[in-house]
Amino acid sequence: MITLAIETSCDETSAAVLDDTKVISNIIHSQMFHSSYGGVVPEVASREHLKKIVSVTDEALKIAGVGLQDIELVAATSEPGLIGALLVGLNFAKSVSMTIDVPFVPVNHIEAHLYSCFLEGQKKDEFPFMGLIVSGGHTILALVKNFFDHEILGSTIDDAAGEAFDKGAKLLGLGYPGGHLIDELAKSGNRSFHKFPIPVIKNSLYDFSFSGLKTSLLYYLKEIQFENNNNDKLLRDICASYREAIVMSLFKTTKSACEDYNVKIVSVTGGVSANSRLREVFKELEAKDYKVHFPGKEYSTDNAAMIGLLGYYKYNLKEALQKEFYTAESLKTSARARLDYENF
Ligand code: KG4
Ligand code: ZN
Repeated sequence: MITLAIETSCDETSAAVLDDTKVISNIIHSQMFHSSYGGVVPEVASREHLKKIVSVTDEALKIAGVGLQDIELVAATSEPGLIGALLVGLNFAKSVSMTIDVPFVPVNHIEAHLYSCFLEGQKKDEFPFMGLIVSGGHTILALVKNFFDHEILGSTIDDAAGEAFDKGAKLLGLGYPGGHLIDELAKSGNRSFHKFPIPVIKNSLYDFSFSGLKTSLLYYLKEIQFENNNNDKLLRDICASYREAIVMSLFKTTKSACEDYNVKIVSVTGGVSANSRLREVFKELEAKDYKVHFPGKEYSTDNAAMIGLLGYYKYNLKEALQKEFYTAESLKTSARARLDYENF
């Protein structure tokens, strides 16, 4: 089955073509210019998606060597995300599905991250697994028993892990998004240089909290009267220590959930899963007979391939998902479908 997938939930315009679960093209246009504003500007992001959606899709089809007449399923991110940005990809994808008369499947972006290791590495029968999703807006720990059957064990009570990286980078005078910038500088820094505290959350085993960490970085920088002198040793040591605090918090909580639930398969997904130290620390579990999965770097941050994969599974496991599955015909004719449409 050939699937065309579209992702426009934030600042990446992406289109992918999959043959069943195999990715044949995955084009990602990243809106780099947001860095000059210090964060994503929703209105500007939507307009850029509008400019790029057709050419990015054309390129994905061209590289895959298929035409619109070959597409059998269309999937697009329906939630969560910036509403203006989502609407561009969602309406574009719905229009394509209606025009070529094939079914359309809406996909939840966070759920797509959760299953993204199945794009490569994780095998279809590797359940149950402990899924840690760490992105710019979400930090979620889920026990995943099967496709579309997961229990959320914990999440952040304030900032997401990616947000902690981005806000930390801002305080340090680095650019946006800050995760990979801190990661790069941290590689040659001393992670034991300064101990940044991570709070223990009362009455909660698997939740996370990162806003205090950012505040403690702020106070520390004031205390030492920090000035960013580009790439000097102090900056690299602070980056390494700050990264360590985030990584160890994510790692310890996930490991303790694995022990409590007796699960030895772990998957870490979302933009922050590109972090080199996070990968290193989790991979050490392999010596203790764990299977640890990370998406390929291109599938860590936002991409349409993961949307296509989940769209494909949703369509093919549709008995469990009838409410969210629409034929092209029902989109055109059924008032009920149109009503449901408005709900995502
Ligand atoms: O999943 P994603 O691309 O978008 C959302 O769904 O939010 O995640 C983006 C987040 C940003 O906060 C970015 O700073 C972070 O992922 N990120 C990283 C790294 N690469 C991207 N954080 C830490 N280390 C990295 N190497
Ligand atoms: Zn994401």
